[in-house]
Formats: sequence, C-alpha cells, structure tokens
Amino acid sequence: MYICLCKDITDHQLRESIRQGACDFSQVRRRCQVGAKCGKCMQEARMIVQNELSIQDQCAPMSCGNG
Ligand code: FES
Repeated sequence: MYICLCKDITDHQLRESIRQGACDFSQVRRRCQVGAKCGKCMQEARMIVQNELSIQDQCAPMSCGNG
C-alpha cells in the first residue's frame, strides 16, 4: 500500500528499511525519503515504523545501522 504518494513509497519499503538496519524513524526517513515533500504521510509512516520496530524488538535484539 502506498504511504507516501509524493515519493512513491509503500509500507513494504518502510518495513524493509527497518529489516536492513534502520532503527528509528529518522533513519527510515533518510533511507526512503518518506515525507520529503508535502509531509502529509508522516503520521501514518511514523505509525508503521513504530509498529515494525516493536515487532522487531519482540523477535530479536538488533544492532543499529549507520543510516
Ligand atoms: S505524501 Fe509523503 S511527502 Fe507528500
């Protein structure tokens, strides 16, 4: 499902960014550029990222990527 229409970013891309090492919302933003234009997607993107991070925390401790 598209989350950010300005940048053509899907929820899958946000989750994949976390699986590849992003460990907070700012890192996901840096990697995906979500919210880089109008910003209307920010609230939903943040919720998806926080949800995915909490799932990751429950599964296994992970080290933080460098961006
Ligand atoms: S919808 Fe994401 S920046 Fe506009």
